Amino acid sequence: MVELSVLLNGNVVGRVHEDANRKVFEYVDGVGAGDAPLSMSLPTTQRLHTGKVVENWLFNLLPDNTQTLQWIANDTSNGRVRCSPANPVRLLAKVGEDCAGAVQIVPPERVGHLNPGTVTPLSEAEVEERVQQARLGRSPMGVSGEGMQGRFSLAGAQPKLALRRLSDGGWASVSGAEPTTHILKPPIPDMSGQVEGEHFCLVLARHIGLNAAESEVLQFRAERVIAVRRFDRELEGGFVRRLHVEDMCQAMGYAPGQKYQNYGGPGISDIMTMLSLHSLDKENDRRAFFKACVFNWVIGGTDAHAKNFSVYVGHNGLALAPLYDLNTALPYVDHIAGATMSMSVGKRYKLGEIQFRHWFELGKTLGFSEDFIHDMTVMLMASTGIMLPMAIQTCLDGGIAFESISATARAILRRVESLSEAAMEYKYAADVQVAKIR
Ligand SMILES: Nc1ncnc2c1ncn2[C@@H]1O[C@H](COP(=O)(O)OP(=O)(O)OP(=O)(O)O)[C@@H](O)[C@H]1O
Ligand SMILES: [Mg+2]
Repeated sequence: MVELSVLLNGNVVGRVHEDANRKVFEYVDGVGAGDAPLSMSLPTTQRLHTGKVVENWLFNLLPDNTQTLQWIANDTSNGRVRCSPANPVRLLAKVGEDCAGAVQIVPPERVGHLNPGTVTPLSEAEVEERVQQARLGRSPMGVSGEGMQGRFSLAGAQPKLALRRLSDGGWASVSGAEPTTHILKPPIPDMSGQVEGEHFCLVLARHIGLNAAESEVLQFRAERVIAVRRFDRELEGGFVRRLHVEDMCQAMGYAPGQKYQNYGGPGISDIMTMLSLHSLDKENDRRAFFKACVFNWVIGGTDAHAKNFSVYVGHNGLALAPLYDLNTALPYVDHIAGATMSMSVGKRYKLGEIQFRHWFELGKTLGFSEDFIHDMTVMLMASTGIMLPMAIQTCLDGGIAFESISATARAILRRVESLSEAAMEYKYAADVQVAKIR
């Protein structure tokens, strides 16, 4: 039987093991109703959790890419044991030392060796090598062979690295209690300009007032990445501290395979309900989430699924985390109208079918006022257009060549133009309705 210790902010809060193939999570003595839960799906009011909810929580900490899971399963370096890619406990025994949020999952005998941890600076060539390993899928997490050095686990389908940024701007791999601070993602194959495009979408989101993760585009010799600063890490007196976050699939107990709503996952209303029930600032978080959903519709962010939204988890409630993994599909699809969103608006998923009035209908059912919905749709679409030049300038100031963001910026501009026409027609239709009522 494999048993792992589960740490939150460096303290062991529970243990996870298998019992006749069922996954079992148990909080340790002393963790109770007044403490932050490991997950909203694993409340501290209950000491023992078993079965699917535990398995889903564990799988949500792991990459959601079968080849990456297979790579972890096959890894036998440093005495690691080959295991099934379908066993999240055994997989996390190998890579759970630096997970999303404040979670670390390690074999019990490792707990006493986590402190003080190690920080090993990497040369530019070493980072390049790791990025290349990750990009080519040779080592999807960019690590091979070493002890616990550089081991991390992060969700998502794309290859990525988690590294520590040093105060002098250099990079390091870490182990033990030392957390990573940045996520580095190489370009997705066959999507020219994707790294710059993702950065551009994050910059644009920040320019129109959305709380989005900070990013940069970096070059390590021949390798290019988007480097995103982790919002689940905080610098405190020269030390890096982990902050507890989880994604919406975890918080709501879904499996990673259900991250898309039409695969059985949560939709906009479900996430709104979660925020209504548990957010510490429910009005602002609900508004911010609504705005983020509309922004994704405006920019053609078709991959805004439940694992691309996260919440900070505290002992008394939740707070919506900054937005991340913002992308536009617009430069890459032949027919924009047919592009499918990850969460429906009403019953509609297709970009071409979702109109302003559907956001109004949805917004009303969510309890928002007409003025607010107007601001969050028509105004947000307009400010996206207005802020495009500012976002371009910010990218240029960051050393990005115009050519690498121009397709993205143009595609969003064209989309805003066509939405502006739709908004005029919508406004006209709405005025006619009002006139009829009068
Ligand atoms: N800035 C950030 N701070 C903290 N955690 C983050 C940040 N960005 C991403 N994450 C975490 O890492 C995971 C993977 O990141 P990301 O979504 O960017 O990867 P991806 O492989 O492109 O995802 P997808 O499968 O949605 O395309 C996220 O689901 C989230 O848990
Ligand atoms: Mg993602």
